[in-house]
Amino acid sequence: MAARNFIPNETIDEVRSNNDIVEVIIECGVPLKQVGRNYKGLCPFHQEKTPSFSVSQERQVFKCFGCETGGNVIHFIQKHEGKTFLEAIEWLAERANIPLPTKDTKITARHKQINELSELNKFAVKYYHELLRTGQHSQHAREYLKNRGVRSQTISFFNIGYAKKQRRDLVKAATHQGWTVQQLVDAGLIKNEEHGPQDRFWNRVLFPINNAQGVPIGFGGRSLSNEHQPKYLNSPGTILYNKSRILYNLDKARQSITKNQSALLVEGYMDVLMLQQNGIENVIASSGTSLSEEHASLLKRFTPEVVIVFDGDASGLQAAQRGLQRLIAENIRVRIALMPKGDDPDSFVKENGVDGFNELIEKATNLIEFQIQSAIQNKNIRHPDVKSKVVKDICQILVNINNRVELTEYVKYTIHELDLDEGLLWSELRNLGLKNNTPIPKLPHRKIGSKKLSDRERIEEQFVQSLIQVPELIPRIKTQFDYRDLTNAHFVEIAKLLWDASSDEKPVDIQQILNTCEDDQLKNFISEALLSRLDSSKHKLRIDGYLYLLKGFMIQDLERSIKSNMEETDDYESLDKRRLILSNQRKDLIKKLRSEKGNESPKNLPDMEISFTERCSKIARRNNK
Ligand code: UTP
Ligand code: MN
Repeated sequence: MAARNFIPNETIDEVRSNNDIVEVIIECGVPLKQVGRNYKGLCPFHQEKTPSFSVSQERQVFKCFGCETGGNVIHFIQKHEGKTFLEAIEWLAERANIPLPTKDTKITARHKQINELSELNKFAVKYYHELLRTGQHSQHAREYLKNRGVRSQTISFFNIGYAKKQRRDLVKAATHQGWTVQQLVDAGLIKNEEHGPQDRFWNRVLFPINNAQGVPIGFGGRSLSNEHQPKYLNSPGTILYNKSRILYNLDKARQSITKNQSALLVEGYMDVLMLQQNGIENVIASSGTSLSEEHASLLKRFTPEVVIVFDGDASGLQAAQRGLQRLIAENIRVRIALMPKGDDPDSFVKENGVDGFNELIEKATNLIEFQIQSAIQNKNIRHPDVKSKVVKDICQILVNINNRVELTEYVKYTIHELDLDEGLLWSELRNLGLKNNTPIPKLPHRKIGSKKLSDRERIEEQFVQSLIQVPELIPRIKTQFDYRDLTNAHFVEIAKLLWDASSDEKPVDIQQILNTCEDDQLKNFISEALLSRLDSSKHKLRIDGYLYLLKGFMIQDLERSIKSNMEETDDYESLDKRRLILSNQRKDLIKKLRSEKGNESPKNLPDMEISFTERCSKIARRNNK
């Protein structure tokens, strides 16, 4: 990440645009044949007999439909020549005869330091890992991990290491390699004490902590005996490592998190290790700090749901409670899976296996219900004073929910649990300053891993694809639609990139997004969209069509939830009014759809007996042809 900041984005794009992708690929020994407007050939990245590797000269992207690899010319060189991003740029710059700024002139001091310290951390990870693997004096550390059930592959996968008992071991090894004491101090690896520099970590098993891009930025070190305290020693905050922004294992878990549309948040390094070792990959840990706002907004980019898997003891529970409001504030669905008393995920999965663990995750309770239950637990609610205190506590929880439909549901839940009068609870909430706004509720997100998208997700997919194909329309669409109203987190992520990249003055440059994109799935999606460019004259029409359909879905959601809540609420009148307004909005929308899409719309839009959804998907299917 840091490395690419050396070179200005404009230069990167100059390098890219001066290296024709078709020429470069052919020069790299991959024969291509023109087929229609694209080029085709046998994919160099996997074994195949029939060509599924496509290249668009016009759009300057490649994509293999067999192994799902894609990107622009820079990514091709990275992958084909096994180069880093920077090396690929250098290679292509030389080919096109473009001078690159030399490091000394362009790198700011900060970037230089970030880059150096990343390299130093890489060195330390490797050094400690080697020691654990083969060190003469590491036998007890290897035994320790073995006794805890950590397999050899797991040790490699996480690059686990060992720091020797000597207090100046790393200092010596690193300075011998040319690193300075100051650099080691800045990286948090050693401390400068009166009697000279000392390693921060000694006689500990080390878990490298990576940023989301997989670059090591710090360590967590486990002591090997009870006498050696603290049990876990973590790197201090450094220019690279900011505890409130880093989630342990996010780099390795992110793909699985996106695929599962759910992240499991655990407490400790060992929990992550053991779950991963058992094939549960969407696991991250906050590693000794409580969840911050930054953690929450980071997670929001990958998943609509977080399941908190915390130890069944009191401190675990409290830790769980703290960060949760942050997740709720980000509109992340939160569920709580509680381990039996005395267990943590590590011990639990050892005793109960993957099935037992998965069962526990499935049963995880929704956070709000969990909080309501905790407020009631162990209280003698038959006593009026106690009961009234419990009601007050619960209202404090409920008043934060700004989605009225959800709130109504929890109100129902509470009055059932406490045998209360509903009107009373509502008036209590109003006393606490309950606001009357009712934001549009989100539908639960669906999985995309299975590739089976719902009709709605297919429309979202086509919508996002079209925006990639005609990015000049994004500034206008931005004013009409909030990308967060997409239901599939994957498309939300892409749309966010597009939204962030667009401004009034400058059209969105998709190649720029591709240049800086580090996520393979995203690169593929963007390349595929660019390769399958459709007739451009109809783009505006198509995108507007999708927009209507998406808004139709949103209105339909709201209408449906309001309907289902109507019978039970005392606010019947206002709900019914709202329902009516929505119903009319929907009719208008359909009318608009009919007239604006002119010849393209189905001749006889059937009336209410066919569901709106069905109609939407029919139109979408036709548009797709
Ligand atoms: P736990 O005390 O629950 O440890 O701390 P654990 O994960 O079960 O570890 P093992 O199984 O005893 O090895 C949970 C997490 O809190 C942080 C660490 O990230 C740890 O994984 N922690 C704990 C610290 O940072 N410092 C400590 O002294 C203890
Ligand atoms: Mn443990």
